[in-house]
Amino acid sequence: MWILGIDTSCDDTGVGLVRDGVVVVNRVASQTLLHQRYGGVVPELASREHTQVIDGLVQQALGEAGLKAADLDLIAATRGPGLIGALLVGYTYGKGLAFALGKPFVPVHHLEGHIYAALAEHPEVEPPFLALIASGGHTHLFEVPAWGTYRLLGATLDDAAGEAFDKAARLLGLGYPGGPEIERLAEQGEPGRVPLAVPLQGQEGFAFSFSGLKTAVARALEKGHAPADIAARFQQVAVEHIVQVVTRAARHTGLSTVLVTGGVAQNTALKTQLQAAGLRLMFPPRGLATDNGAMIALAAWRTHARSPHNPMALPAAAYLPLGSA
Ligand code: KG4
Ligand code: ZN
Repeated sequence: MWILGIDTSCDDTGVGLVRDGVVVVNRVASQTLLHQRYGGVVPELASREHTQVIDGLVQQALGEAGLKAADLDLIAATRGPGLIGALLVGYTYGKGLAFALGKPFVPVHHLEGHIYAALAEHPEVEPPFLALIASGGHTHLFEVPAWGTYRLLGATLDDAAGEAFDKAARLLGLGYPGGPEIERLAEQGEPGRVPLAVPLQGQEGFAFSFSGLKTAVARALEKGHAPADIAARFQQVAVEHIVQVVTRAARHTGLSTVLVTGGVAQNTALKTQLQAAGLRLMFPPRGLATDNGAMIALAAWRTHARSPHNPMALPAAAYLPLGSA
C-alpha cells in the first residue's frame, strides 16, 4: 500500500511516500531563508510559498519512487494544528488529489504524525507508553494507554522547548534554528560559570516552562558572561527540566517506555540525560524528527482504519487539541 503524506502546518512543505509502513521518500522544502530576515515565520508568506512548491514537490517525490499519482492507494494531509493559511494549502491539495484520483483521503493530526515518526523504526512497540513532543511550536507530554487514546499529562505554560532554544540563540547572536547552534556553542562553554536555575523545580505536576530561561539568558549577557558559557548552562538547565518532568511522569504512571519526538529530540544532551534515567527510549530516525510529510503518511498507515467516515467534510483547524486531560 502506497501512502502520500503532506504537511504544510508551519514553514516547511513536507511530502513523503510510505510503502507498507516503510518510508521510501521524504522531501522537505524549507522556508527558513524566506522568513529569516523577519526574525520569525510570516504566515502569509508561508502560505504563498507552500502554494508555489507543493505540486512540484509531490511530482518530484512520485518520480523518485518511480510512481504515477494513480499508483497511490491513499492520500493523507495534516488537518491541524498550525497556521491556518499554511495548513489549508497542503490539506486542500491532498483532498483535491484524492478526489481527482478517486482514492481515500485521511486527515492527520500533526502531533500524531510526530508520535508515529518516533515509531518508524520500532514497529514492535505497543501502548502503554509516554510520548514527549518537543518542537518549535509544541511541548506536550502524553500518556498513551491504547492506540488512538491520548491523555495530556502536561504542556508548556509559555514558550515551547524549541522556541526557547531559538530565542536564546537569537539573544546570543546565533542563527536560526537555534537548537543546533546552541548545541554547538555549548560544547565550548563551562556551564558551572553561569547561575541559571532549573524551571518549576519542586512542582507536583508535569508542566513545562521555558520563558524564564530566556530572560535569564538576557540577564547573564548583561552581566558579561561569555556566550559559550551561557549556551552551555542554558542547554544543561533546559534539558534537566525536561528530564525531571519526564522521569516524574514515568514514576507516576509506572511507564518506562518513552517516545521522544519533534525537533528538540535531536538534541544529544537530552538523549544522553534521558538514557541515564534508565528509560526505554524511542527517537525518530534522521530526517523524521522535525516537520515532514513522511510522518503524516506513517500516521495514516497506522490510523486509516479508524479514520472518520466523511473526511472530506472535515475542515482544517488552527486549534486542534489531541486527546483529553
Ligand atoms: O519539529 P520542528 O520542525 O518544529 C515544529 O514543529 O514547530 O522542530 C524545530 C525546532 C526548532 O525550534 C529548533 O531550534 C529545535 O526544533 N531543534 C533543536 C535541535 N534541533 C532542532 N533544539 C535543541 N537541540 C537540537 N539539536
Ligand atoms: Zn511539528
